[in-house]
This record gives sequence, structure tokens and C-alpha cells, in this order.
Amino acid sequence: MNDLVIHNARLYPMSHNCERSTANQIAILNGKINEISDKGKTGLLPAKEYYDAEGACLLPGLVDCHTHIVFSGDRSHEHTMRITGASYADIHAAGGGIHASVKAVSAVSVDELIRQSLPRIQNLQSEGVTTIEIKSGYGLNLENEIKMLRAIRKINKLLALNVVSTFLGAHTIPKELTEQEYLNDVITNMLPNIAAEDLADAVDIFNEHIAFSNESMQKLFTAAKKYNLKTRVHAEQLSNQRAAAFASELGALSADHLEYLEEHGAKAMAKNKTIAVLLPSAFYFLQETKKPPIDLLRKHKVAMAVATDTNPGTAPIPSILTALHLSVHLFNLSPEEALMGITLNAAKALGLDSHCGSLEIGKQADMTLWDIPNPDFLCYQLGGIYPKNVWFKGNARSN
Ligand code: NIG
Ligand code: FE
Repeated sequence: MNDLVIHNARLYPMSHNCERSTANQIAILNGKINEISDKGKTGLLPAKEYYDAEGACLLPGLVDCHTHIVFSGDRSHEHTMRITGASYADIHAAGGGIHASVKAVSAVSVDELIRQSLPRIQNLQSEGVTTIEIKSGYGLNLENEIKMLRAIRKINKLLALNVVSTFLGAHTIPKELTEQEYLNDVITNMLPNIAAEDLADAVDIFNEHIAFSNESMQKLFTAAKKYNLKTRVHAEQLSNQRAAAFASELGALSADHLEYLEEHGAKAMAKNKTIAVLLPSAFYFLQETKKPPIDLLRKHKVAMAVATDTNPGTAPIPSILTALHLSVHLFNLSPEEALMGITLNAAKALGLDSHCGSLEIGKQADMTLWDIPNPDFLCYQLGGIYPKNVWFKGNARSN
């Protein structure tokens, strides 16, 4: 007997594209999708409990596959500097940027870090996010990277949410160390301690002329594999370092940002099935003008995901629906590409597509119900849209 059947739904499974299914009911058993069928043909499926969707659109729970949402303090003064002419790299060089957030994180406890981060995460939840990736990277030493990762793991226990934890120790280089000295600490000190406490599912690295080289990425990824950690990279955000191609050859699940990607990179990503994670909110907030080469990604059939990149410096925008909207308006994704980007392709970017990201039998019953004419509407209206209901592992989350 199923635990729950949601019926009279317009079902958009997002399993291959955005098309509506001919089915209109979905049965949940033990937190997973057990059956999907057309009530007209099979009759109402047996269940302990029923929910009448009254014709609303049922979509998978949304996936935000790239965030730095756990942080302390804010950097609003940098925003003021930037709108009056300073660049992100200028602010970084002047000791602001990531360094400012590092200082703020070092001053607070795990619980205070969680307290400050929860409202941002809850905003994503209110928009239907059921899976989120959160990176460390504002610690930059063993004590504070571990603090961030413990906060991330604790958030997973506190909220009805899948949380993927990513160790981004290689976010920037502390001022007093060389790249090699710091990377050595990341690999030989932080990584083994983090792995011993099972604090991370993946590692990430900021590959950039103001941060880490391809050689450092190779060393980090080689070490990460020993601990069975997945790998991903911030690539080609401010310049073309050919990092996406190199990372994909090393087996990275995703390469993220990609404003400066060129054809060689798109080809390598396609060949290695690396997901392109697009972060239009950071592009918007930094007032960038160079857009990621969407035509090349399409030409080479690289799967695209869309995420918020929520962080204090380049995207203080904890809204997946804003990222969705901006991906269509700024990067010219089709609504279908954008919607696949916050569902199945985002799950692929996390290596979780066998668990979530679409409504398919056997997957976790993470679902969102929307009173909208069709899913494209989510790309059209900016602001003021919330799901009517959200289920996480088959349990209704009071929204
Ligand atoms: O994804 N590029 C590096 N990391 C973040 C920014 C972090 C920060 O400025 O605090 C990003 O844009
Ligand atoms: Fe980022």
C-alpha cells in the first residue's frame, strides 16, 4: 500500500525535457516514487493518504548545485565600491573580497555561522529547493574550514533538505603564503582531517589568474580521488585558463561559471560529460559583459545546469527562481534549458541524478506543486512565485 498518492496533477517529470506527461497521479512509498500513472486508465492508485492537486503543475524539487551560502557578515560596502568603478579583482587585491569573509567566519562559532546562514537557505527552500550544494572556502585554515564544513553537515540534519558538502579550501591563497605552501596545507593537512570526519562529498578549486593554476588543480584532484571525493572547478570566470578542459579530462563532474570558455573547452567537456554550471546571478551582480558561450555548449551538446552561486561577494541573491529568470534573460537559455538546469542537469552536476532532479520511479519523492499555467511561467514572472506545496522524501513541507 502506498503512503501517499497525489492525483489530478499536471505532471512535468523533467526526465528528458520539459514536456507534460500523460500521467496525472504519482504514488509514494517509503519516501520514494513508487508508481506514476493516468488515473483515467488505471483508476486511483491505492494509498493510505490522498492529495488532490486540483490541476496544479507538479515538478521535481529544485536543485541548487552551486552555493557559498554559509558565511558570516556581509560585503555591502564592496558593492558600493564596485558600482562606483572598482573591479572584483581590485577589491580582492586590496584585501577585501574573499579575505573579508574569511575574517568574518574566523570570528564566529559553528552555531552562529548556522544562525546567520539559515534565513538564506530557508529562502531557497521557500522557492521549492530540496537539494542544495554548499561550499566551504571562507576558512582557509584547518580550524575554520572544518568549522564551515561542520556547519554544512549540521544544516543537513536541521532542515528537510539534501545538502551536498563541498570542500573549497582552494578558494584563494592566504596573504602570508605562496600558492604552493598553501596548497600543500590543503592537501596534506586539511583534506585528510576532513575525510577522516566525513565532512565533504566533493572538492572544488577556484582556478583563476588571481587564485589557483591548472597544476594545483591536478594535485588537488589526485589527492581527492584517494578519499573518493568528487571534483568540480570554478573555471573561466574572469579569464580563459583552459581550466574547464583540463578539469574535465581529470574527471570533474562540473565546470562552473565559464564566461571565458572557448571551443576547445566545450569540446572537452562534451567528450568527458562534464556539466556546465551557469551562474547568471554572479554575472549580473558583477555587471559582467562577457557571457558564457551558450551556442558552443549547445553545438557540442554539453548539458547545462543553472545555480545561484549565493555568496557575499558576487551573488548575494539566495533565489533559484531569480537565477532561472536571469539565465533566460541574460544568457538566452530557452525556458526548457533553464528548467532542466535547475532540476535534472543540476542533479547531474552533483552526481545525484539517480536520486533526485526528476520525477521517475525509484527516485526520492522530492516534489513541488505550482499554481501556474505551465512551467515556462517560472522563467517569465520575476518575483512573487512560490510553490503551493513541497514534499521532501514524500513528506509535505509546510510552505
Ligand atoms: O563563485 N569565484 C570565486 N568564488 C565566488 C565568489 C566568492 C566571494 O567573492 O566571496 C564565486 O563567484
Ligand atoms: Fe562560486
